[in-house]
Amino acid sequence: MKSHWGSNIVVAKGRVLHPVELSGFATFKGSNPVGLLTYRIEGGDCEIVTIDSTAEDEGIGTALIEAVKKRAKVKGCRRIWLITTNDNLRALGFYQKRGFRIVALYPNAIEKSRKLKPQISMKAVNGIPIRDELELELNLEESE
Ligand SMILES: CC(C)(COP(=O)(O)OP(=O)(O)OC[C@H]1O[C@@H](n2cnc3c(N)ncnc32)[C@H](O)[C@@H]1OP(=O)(O)O)[C@@H](O)C(=O)NCCC(=O)NCCS
Repeated sequence: MKSHWGSNIVVAKGRVLHPVELSGFATFKGSNPVGLLTYRIEGGDCEIVTIDSTAEDEGIGTALIEAVKKRAKVKGCRRIWLITTNDNLRALGFYQKRGFRIVALYPNAIEKSRKLKPQISMKAVNGIPIRDELELELNLEESE
């Protein structure tokens, strides 16, 4: 968690979350962990808190999404939602191609997040300033 997220905490919508304490799914290549998704369920909503793939474009992220979709449906959730940031173009494409829709934009939310987690960079590796939060959701009542 530390190597991928800069610290043991994740900040989203002004909340501090501790992914290591959450339920999740991991993918392995042999005994080597190559993917991890953590989530939390509250009031019929399933929030993806983190998702990471260390071997991109091999289907790991998709498998993790399918796993959490199945779990959320078994638990009776109406939707899966998550927060990502404006710079994360890869994630924005990835989620939308898998049925997620952008349902909210929180302009400048990262300024507040940085007060709780100073490790959040000003700029992403692709050069885009990290400023805003976007909320995406997958409506489980509509999706297959
Ligand atoms: C976003 C993320 C989880 C996607 O994981 P991933 O393992 O690359 O996802 P997949 O391999 O399932 O899908 C990625 C692409 O590879 C393609 N792909 C899947 N298996 C493939 C294969 N065997 N050969 C070639 N391409 C393949 C998929 O079709 C997909 O393309 P598409 O989105 O155009 O349909 C990953 O990029 C990541 O860890 N990013 C950094 C952390 C992050 O930003 N997390 C989200 C924060 S909100």
